[in-house]
Amino acid sequence: MAKRKMILDLDTGIDDALAIAYAVGAPDVDLIGIISSYGNVVVPQAADNSLRILELLGATDVPVFLGEPHSSTTEHFDVMAISQQIHGKNGIGEVDLPAPKRAVETQSGVDFLIDAVHQYGADLTLVPTGPLTNLAAALKKAPDIATTIGNVTLMGGALTVPGNVSHFAEANINQDAEAANDVFTSDLNLTMVGLDVTLRTLLTKHETQQWRDLKTTAGAKFADIVDYYIAAYEVTSPDLHGCALHDPLAVGVALDPSFVTTLDLNMFVEAEGVDYGRTIGDPARLNDPTNVTVALTVDKDRYLKTFMTYLTTLFKKN
Ligand code: BDR
Ligand code: CA
Repeated sequence: MAKRKMILDLDTGIDDALAIAYAVGAPDVDLIGIISSYGNVVVPQAADNSLRILELLGATDVPVFLGEPHSSTTEHFDVMAISQQIHGKNGIGEVDLPAPKRAVETQSGVDFLIDAVHQYGADLTLVPTGPLTNLAAALKKAPDIATTIGNVTLMGGALTVPGNVSHFAEANINQDAEAANDVFTSDLNLTMVGLDVTLRTLLTKHETQQWRDLKTTAGAKFADIVDYYIAAYEVTSPDLHGCALHDPLAVGVALDPSFVTTLDLNMFVEAEGVDYGRTIGDPARLNDPTNVTVALTVDKDRYLKTFMTYLTTLFKKN
């Protein structure tokens, strides 16, 4: 089976950790690297979490890189209280994982991305599930990558539902709306997996118990990590009756777009005012050829089945 080259760009909290597990467990992915972003945690913590999760999953051949520590319009980044509540202070549900044996790479995440696009071109897929700061920085440094990379499937934004940080803004876009606007209005072939679909794709303790029952280290640790996330959702979003599989859904859609129905649209991101962070159609380009494919509905049963097959098979071995 031809494997898809994939790079993840993560602010490694709990659903980002599930995105790693999905990419490692999927039979058709060659995960060539993980770039670290800020958001659920600060960048060094995101990198450390990614390395620990990779080690837990026996995927120590995957290099991890440091990305930009904050948006280009700010001097500093502090983790929001709500992020700590949902993902824990360490980003992985206060669960202790052994210190990683592999160190973080010395090359910057932005340079790694540019080099990888030049090397693999259309065969490469990027899945950002944090702020779009690293991708915007790479586009600025090497604008040619916009038309060279195969596809970017991002978790972020909200088109048909309200945001989760403000009435308009989803958390990843809200961290750096300027960068998001640079990305959405570029020539990139983009797929947006936003709250429209991720809030419909839920996991419960019924599934984490299946991991626990495997009696493996990875099964038990992932069950502990995700039960923390489920407990946080019970407080912050009690009507959902589960936790949202935001980031692993983006990896799933990158590999199998038929999980979702979509709308082709030219979009921009509002970077000022009360609707800061809003991802919306661009009225000036409504009749132009489109570059964004927005996921609107999801076959959640088929996705959840695939998610559980990939993760359970992986946890069984680790
Ligand atoms: C997104 O924000 C982050 O907290 C999650 O990891 C996910 O990527 C959801 O809005
Ligand atoms: Ca994330």
